Amino acid sequence: MKTNFVELKNVSVMRGERKILNDINLTISDNENAALIGPNGSGKSTFIKLITAKIYSSYTGEDTVCRLFGNDRWNVADLRSKLGIVTNELQYDFHNDITGFEAVLSGFFSSIGLFKNHTVTKEMEEKADGIINFLEVAHLSAKKLETMSSGEARRFLIARALVNDPKVLVLDEPSNSLDIASAMKFHAVLRKIAASGAKIVMVTHLVSDIIPEIDRFIYFKDGKIFADGVRKDIFNEKKLSELFEMDVRLREKDGFCWLNG
Ligand SMILES: Nc1ncnc2c1ncn2[C@@H]1O[C@H](COP(=O)(O)OP(=O)(O)OP(=O)(O)O)[C@@H](O)[C@H]1O
Ligand SMILES: [Mg+2]
Repeated sequence: MKTNFVELKNVSVMRGERKILNDINLTISDNENAALIGPNGSGKSTFIKLITAKIYSSYTGEDTVCRLFGNDRWNVADLRSKLGIVTNELQYDFHNDITGFEAVLSGFFSSIGLFKNHTVTKEMEEKADGIINFLEVAHLSAKKLETMSSGEARRFLIARALVNDPKVLVLDEPSNSLDIASAMKFHAVLRKIAASGAKIVMVTHLVSDIIPEIDRFIYFKDGKIFADGVRKDIFNEKKLSELFEMDVRLREKDGFCWLNG
């Protein structure tokens, strides 16, 4: 049965006097991959925080709906267990004395680090190892996250997000800090994930992140949804130029820069 990952009606988020998300009406089914694009400060990360239950709608009137996986009220741990989350903020949250391997294991518990009540099984360790190997950072597993370069740490965060077989990967600028080769490998990983059936909701500023499996495009501007549609209708120079208020050029090559795409 098709359900919705996100269903928002009349949702706004206030910070001080300002609505940083302004009357958002949007549905994302759990059967589609979406790219969220827009100028700096347009509300994309705020939206990601909203759909990962980091923040809440500022209004809770009758006409406001903020439903995730069909539930108006959800248990945060339960919700996060369905999600694989990679954001810059999450990377900053891992400031304690934790190794790359432990950070990945903490993905099984949707927690920022391992705690006494967490029972790590052999299967978990093997799975974590497998993903770490796949992302080619096994040699860094025992290194403390805070002593890694940001690109190295980013790869462990990506591994952490994958470990729980998430229904939806929620990514806010995931390829930040990745070098050219790592970014290309990451795109290949994303395509594998998409092929496996998990869905991707991704904020990005990089056209090359937008793998062919992404067909839904949601454009943010000034805290509002500026446009929402499928690739063939709105992922074009005209619409992007309107969004960014400048002449934006897209080359097909930009979207297909991986060699075996
Ligand atoms: N906690 C906060 N307090 C006050 N203002 C905030 C807060 N969080 C975000 N904002 C403001 O809300 C607006 C949207 O921020 P947000 O981080 O969602 O933008 P963004 O689209 O992700 O931008 P970027 O592309 O730069 O990451 C910005 O103007 C930002 O300054
Ligand atoms: Mg942001």
